[in-house]
Amino acid sequence: MYIDVITLFPEMFDAVAKHGITRRALEQHLWSLGVWNPRDFVEDNYRTIDDRPYGGGPGMVMLAEPLNAAIDAALKRQQDAGVAGKVVYLTPQAKPLTDAGVRRLKEESAGLVLLAGRYEGVDERLIEARVDEEVSIGDYVLSGGELPAMVLIDALVRLLPGALNDGESASQDSYSDGLLDWPHYTRPDDWKGRKVPPVLQSGNHAAIEKWRRKQALGRTWLRRPEMIAALTLNKQDLKLLEEFRQEQAQQRQQEQQQQ
Ligand code: ADE
Repeated sequence: MYIDVITLFPEMFDAVAKHGITRRALEQHLWSLGVWNPRDFVEDNYRTIDDRPYGGGPGMVMLAEPLNAAIDAALKRQQDAGVAGKVVYLTPQAKPLTDAGVRRLKEESAGLVLLAGRYEGVDERLIEARVDEEVSIGDYVLSGGELPAMVLIDALVRLLPGALNDGESASQDSYSDGLLDWPHYTRPDDWKGRKVPPVLQSGNHAAIEKWRRKQALGRTWLRRPEMIAALTLNKQDLKLLEEFRQEQAQQRQQEQQQQ
């Protein structure tokens, strides 16, 4: 996958290029990263990249032309590699990204040019003329599109075949089946009086699978009921969820009795 980013803060992208799973995948050539600073596409002595908004008001607006030239350079890198890039603008003015949205972006295009804006925004005409899709990472406002672009990069790169080793990919499946993950434990088996659920030390793989599925269903039901409502659960899952509810109710009762 070819990813190019238009940003006034190229060094920020060291976070994905030089660390962790995204770094390893970069070294394996599963993806490549180009970073373009719109300031490098400005002719004037002051290297101006923004100006005051028409109509007045606070803040500055990023100029269309330096961004336009940076997008051209980024698309050219992708075209030279035989990839037709799609331009994505990171903005809180869009639908929030989901697991399905990340998978769709990965399937739709082998090249993405991510436009990370700063300040109050970007001249709307640049968005009209050059942007194929707008993406938000959630209903809150950040100071710029850099962190959102890196969120998208990390989520995309994890999906590339070979980016995760076996151990890592197993846990990843959990969200994609529409459920939250089950709880995880490691040594010691007693930490400050809190014990690991005995089934996990039983060696009974079927029982462990069942317990994990039950916890995933139960957690999703407790924390994200709308996610459970969106699923059609089979008989076995419905039974596990019912067991979870009963166990939960029993626990509550015990806790109340202890008080
Ligand atoms: N830029 C600023 N806030 C953002 C958000 N929530 N998502 C995407 N881009 C942004």
